Amino acid sequence: MNTDRGRDWFDDARFGLFVHFGAYSVAARHEWVQTYERLSDEEYLPYVAHFDPDLFDAVDIARTAKRAGAGYVVLTTKHHEGFALWDTAESDFSSPRACGRDLVREFVDAVRAEGLRVGFYFSLLDWHHPDFLVDGNHPRRDDPDAHALNAGRDPERYRRFLHAQVRELLTGYGAIDYLFFDFSYPEEKDGWAGKGPEDWGSEELLAMCRELQPRMLVNDRLGIPGDFVTPEQYQPTEPVVRDGRRVRWEACQTMNGSWGYHRDNLDQKSARLLTEMLVASVSMDGGMLLNIGPDGRGAIAPRDRAVLDEISEWMRLHRGAITGAGHTPLAPPREGVYTRRGDRLFLHLTTWPLGAVHLPGLAGRVEFARLLNDGSWLRTSVSEPDAEATQMAPSGQPSGTLTVHLPTQRPDALIPVVELTLSGDAAID
Ligand code: GLC
Repeated sequence: MNTDRGRDWFDDARFGLFVHFGAYSVAARHEWVQTYERLSDEEYLPYVAHFDPDLFDAVDIARTAKRAGAGYVVLTTKHHEGFALWDTAESDFSSPRACGRDLVREFVDAVRAEGLRVGFYFSLLDWHHPDFLVDGNHPRRDDPDAHALNAGRDPERYRRFLHAQVRELLTGYGAIDYLFFDFSYPEEKDGWAGKGPEDWGSEELLAMCRELQPRMLVNDRLGIPGDFVTPEQYQPTEPVVRDGRRVRWEACQTMNGSWGYHRDNLDQKSARLLTEMLVASVSMDGGMLLNIGPDGRGAIAPRDRAVLDEISEWMRLHRGAITGAGHTPLAPPREGVYTRRGDRLFLHLTTWPLGAVHLPGLAGRVEFARLLNDGSWLRTSVSEPDAEATQMAPSGQPSGTLTVHLPTQRPDALIPVVELTLSGDAAID
């Protein structure tokens, strides 16, 4: 893990927007559709031939991300199907050939113009490439002659192609802040060898990233340590530790289980749930990369936009409890979750208690309490233990507990937040 860079933008951002877009968005049945349905190149071709992203508006995506309080945006420059969204000299399978547009260029320009950090996702797999060895994830793995297909394939040639494409991305688009390689699967599957660092040439790839973009953060999916780890579709419940050291992490999450546009999948998570996941990430010193899958024309799907609008409204008022915030070892009350930024402790109330919330260990350590949504002062009190030395205050709370009194009416926010300003000498970790 490269932890020697010191704290940087990524540690503060905490929230990013992931954008999965490609020819699979036209198929509209999950970004793995080609392999789930064992589609041949010919069967997949119509989605490429009719790739017409007339509503792909990078400026809209960048502004939507910014409004939602995201600090960075990550675009799938190429997914496992192999269709590149930039003007690659290495293949004809690309958006400039299909529709005359370098979508990576549009994306980079728009994201930079909004003052956000630029992230690339890049698939190490490429199901379209003739030298990529058929394996247990490949669309042709069930062909009658599947194993024979590998006879003429040259993995070394594939590696050279892979490195050349990454080089194009890291030299053609100015400073890139973040790179999400995807993914390594060294285990054997259904009689097929997996693929990992040796297959990708991961050490050389990472060295090339360091050389071409020394400030760029690289994830861990080359199968060798990178700058941050990437729990996928689950939330760590502790700060993440590798080899005895805390590491940067970012949970990537979907809106509905699919990364690419999946028209008929209506399993949408609510804005409230996603916000809880974001808060949970920050409380464990991580971040969240929330995905949208623009539709077949490249537009942000209305249901995704609706969720992002709600998150934007929450972030407008509560961003201070997310951006630049992190973990505190202090145990939260059962009604909520803590995040902390400098002398501010934020209590995110996932349930609304009746009248008051009791905060063990905070008596005498809080200078001011308010609701973050409207800045309204909240009365606090400390009930001292009785003389019997039971260590329990009359309220039934352990000694040292601070009580924050709350209005009966729950504020109209996805998650109400109590902001506590800690007194000068009240270090809590
Ligand atoms: C997985 C999937 C992929 C998705 C990615 C996002 O590795 O293969 O479809 O893009 O995770 O993290």
